[in-house]
Amino acid sequence: PAHRPLYGRHVLITAGPTHEPIDPVRYIANRSSGKQGFAIAAAAAAAGARVTLVAGPVMLETPPGVERIDVESAREMAEAVKGALPVDAAVMVAAVADWRSKDFAAHKMKKRGTAPPALVLAENPDILASLAVARQRPRLLIGFAAETEDVIANAKAKRERKGADWIVANDVSGDVMGGENNAVHIVTADNVETLEQMPKSAVARALVERIAQELGPNDE
Ligand code: C5P
Repeated sequence: PAHRPLYGRHVLITAGPTHEPIDPVRYIANRSSGKQGFAIAAAAAAAGARVTLVAGPVMLETPPGVERIDVESAREMAEAVKGALPVDAAVMVAAVADWRSKDFAAHKMKKRGTAPPALVLAENPDILASLAVARQRPRLLIGFAAETEDVIANAKAKRERKGADWIVANDVSGDVMGGENNAVHIVTADNVETLEQMPKSAVARALVERIAQELGPNDE
């Protein structure tokens, strides 16, 4: 039916930051409230989809009808994403930490009045790029790009580099981070659609509408 255009579809969403532990009390993270990802999960569920939301550490309520898997690190997020396949569409909104601490100290590191310890980093898996080449690749794979300059050019390059179908680019040079509004460009293979600034819930509904259009009517 027209009001539940994603009925019968399984949509996977990642949201929030990841925390990469250094010791039991310290971590590396990106800035992310999780609001945009949770709004997309809510909109997809409202559109009738089965929704799996893999969430990093955030203080947000689970939207109604959404199946939520809480994770902490990028590697845990990657595992949870793999475990959720197959899906029809995946929207990777999480601000995944690019690096983790190579070592984890089992006990809290102490200040000993000597030189500060050096933090050695290791690269995290790129969840979006791995999904793009996965055996069970989602039919529609969407990434996000937070940019502060050359937003569209960077988003186009990212779409190619990551093997995503669409990139939703947002200009985060303003007050988007943690705020209620977002202004995005939806970059596809042959089109760039710019949406005016609007609440994150409205961005979510617009994106879900386009996802439903792209997946087409479900005749199973
Ligand atoms: O490369 P960058 O982090 O800017 O790419 C952003 C996009 O890639 C987002 O969709 C984000 O969720 C995804 N990503 C990921 N795994 C990473 C890094 C980014 O899925 N390790």
